Amino acid sequence: MTDLVIDRAIDRRTLADRLIEARRRTLELVEPLDDEQLNTVYSPLLSPLGWDLGHIANFEELWLVERIGGLPALDGSLGRLYDAIENPRLARNELPILRGDELRFYMAAVRERTLTVLEWVDFEAPAKQPLLERAFVYELLIAHEHQHGETILQLLQLVDGYEPIERNRAARAEPVAPGPDWVLVEVGEEAAIGAPADQFGYDNERPRHPVSLPGFEIQRRPVTNGEFAAFVAESGCEPPLYWLCDGAGGWAREVFGRPEPLDPAHPVVHIDYSQATAYAGSIGARLPSETEWELAARGVDRDRANLDQLGFGTAPAGAYADAASDCGAVQMLGDVWEWTRSDFCPYPGFRAFPYREYSEVFFGDTYKVLRGGSWATRRNLARSSFRNWDLPERRQIFAGVRCARDLDPNRAATCS
Ligand code: AVJ
Ligand code: FE
Repeated sequence: MTDLVIDRAIDRRTLADRLIEARRRTLELVEPLDDEQLNTVYSPLLSPLGWDLGHIANFEELWLVERIGGLPALDGSLGRLYDAIENPRLARNELPILRGDELRFYMAAVRERTLTVLEWVDFEAPAKQPLLERAFVYELLIAHEHQHGETILQLLQLVDGYEPIERNRAARAEPVAPGPDWVLVEVGEEAAIGAPADQFGYDNERPRHPVSLPGFEIQRRPVTNGEFAAFVAESGCEPPLYWLCDGAGGWAREVFGRPEPLDPAHPVVHIDYSQATAYAGSIGARLPSETEWELAARGVDRDRANLDQLGFGTAPAGAYADAASDCGAVQMLGDVWEWTRSDFCPYPGFRAFPYREYSEVFFGDTYKVLRGGSWATRRNLARSSFRNWDLPERRQIFAGVRCARDLDPNRAATCS
């Protein structure tokens, strides 16, 4: 009985602080931009930043202020503008979205109401309101704002002259430990994937379920720029997005409209699914399935990983060796999302929650699953069961690759 009570006790102050912190970060990322930049379409693949900001607030208003708080929307006409499904990214620049002070005022007004509702909401009544069970709706809001932070960062890469307010260079300086190229992943009888029932997770991560598959090998660290450059030279494959010829036969990369040196020891990023697949084929390997990826990530530590956005770049491949997963792989979380060979499909027994448009409408063979999170992913989102998905041709996401291969009975001492 006591356990149950403790388990159900939800700390309102902590939730409020986390909501406030998420907003502080969102605003910090866009602070260097003027209103015109917030409303510019830099890429047909990405919303103008002003849309993301209004959408974050509108999502919060819908789920928290209206559904949970029972309050009417501040302006009922906004829902239509900020609905992600009704408004594909390409169409978002033609919408009469909120701008300037109106946008700021709307964000702040919704947030004020959210914090007021948080003061009186009854967390003890989950039977009546499944959205409140374990404060699900608050976790959803925080995670949603965090996820849009990564979309915002994808767009910021294209903003000429962008200067971050804060930049933390610690990840760049992480030491690299030597180790084998490949590590063995033993699957075991008890292997299972998915989010445990007692933790926050999205519907697509549930239910956790047993899996059975042969052991395999996976690369200890993500594929590097140097390795990918050699592959481009040999194969004539297209280079990653944002790579530029440096004029001396090598490569540089463009960030915020400026060329920067390309460090060959860092993980390659901004490659699409077919580039990842082709690279894997070139070394006699393949992409891992998402199940393999999740099993290789058992034992990861998200506190020792290059996450949380402020590094504005990767750590060298092979860093964080002190926080390797159980099989010995490093950087499973953070640095770059990793393409898997898996289509985004429901787990057996999937049930949409809280709405079909979060995951279910994307199921099928159109989208590929990415795993692990990137330097631009908030730490709160990073977990081994988290499933991201995107179209296979997308390169503006912070995605790289780590290859897998079947166990070869003829290849001795694979671990060394
Ligand atoms: C999981 C990254 C594919 O950006 O479409 C944001 C996350 N869902 N708002 C997306 C999301 C609703 C989603 N991805
Ligand atoms: Fe969204």
